[in-house]
Amino acid sequence: MATSVKLPVSEFAADVWAGLRAVNQKKLPPKYFYDDLGSKLFEAITLLPEYGLSRADERVLARCAESVAARVQRPCVVAELGSGSGKKTSHILGALNVPELKYYPIDVSSEALSTCSRELGKLALVEPIMGDYFHGLECLSRKRPAKSQLLLLFLGSTIGNLERSEQREFLRAVRRRLRPGDLFLIGADLVKDVDRMLVAYDDPANVTAAFNLNLLARINRELQANFDLRCFVHEAVWNPAERRMEMYLVSREEQDVRVGALDLTVHFREGESIWTESSHKFTVEELETLAKDSEFEVLDQWGDSEWPLIETLWRA
Ligand code: SAH
Ligand code: AVI
Repeated sequence: MATSVKLPVSEFAADVWAGLRAVNQKKLPPKYFYDDLGSKLFEAITLLPEYGLSRADERVLARCAESVAARVQRPCVVAELGSGSGKKTSHILGALNVPELKYYPIDVSSEALSTCSRELGKLALVEPIMGDYFHGLECLSRKRPAKSQLLLLFLGSTIGNLERSEQREFLRAVRRRLRPGDLFLIGADLVKDVDRMLVAYDDPANVTAAFNLNLLARINRELQANFDLRCFVHEAVWNPAERRMEMYLVSREEQDVRVGALDLTVHFREGESIWTESSHKFTVEELETLAKDSEFEVLDQWGDSEWPLIETLWRA
């Protein structure tokens, strides 16, 4: 049970307010993982032997970059949703090999955008756009030259962090902001052996646990809360009906937590959880249906032999 009197002041505050006051299942949106430390912890996750997703994505991108580049007309611009550090994007920008190519990474994390600008500055003119995906796409439509073709990237299976019920609407909304002929390259993790997925989201070095718990540290810092991180435990479960990994923070004991900026007291029962992320896994057929339903044509797709994942190239 939660008590309250004050109105939320920012989007983060509003989402924490709503998420921690939910009666059935407390829930926080995964985009708030990515403060400065969260973005660094995500980069650490990509290096874990158990989290094969990022390495597979990079292998496939290295292999398909020339084929993708061959589809791109000139003049062109490249943009990326949730670019993160942009490490893998170098394969695409390198293969395009366009002098003074404009690249617009769109991300909510300032830390990610500064790493990305530093890393990719040698390959393109990087114009970071800080904010949500659709804020970024609106900015982009004002900035991009009239006759250019856009190659939009959405890598690393970040699409899987959207609710399944939101994915089609999200892709349709992206499509409405593109021009006919624009290209959209999506990296999507496929359903695989359950044990491999479980350990990818609950690694023995506890890096994913730190990434998950850091969300509470962010609430402490930015909203003057007093979460004791030692009183919560990271949990990752496979939901077979929804075909997704789910991450939770589970209260070890009955406790009250104060969120000062919201004048909110949140009560936790022992074992009660906050649902912090879903990572949906896909099938190839499902991605084809998503493309069709959001009015894209599938041009090509590439997979990986070690870690089931695909890069799929769509045309608006
Ligand atoms: N594409 C990179 C990074 C993935 S991590 C890779 O494949 O490695 C997910 C990234 O998306 C983070 O940098 C995070 O800050 C960003 N992100 C998450 N939700 C977002 C949203 N709603 N709008 C913009 N960026 C978002
Ligand atoms: C960014 N996103 C696709 C990652 C995922 O696999 O869902 C974030 C992540 N969460 C736990 N580990 C990595």
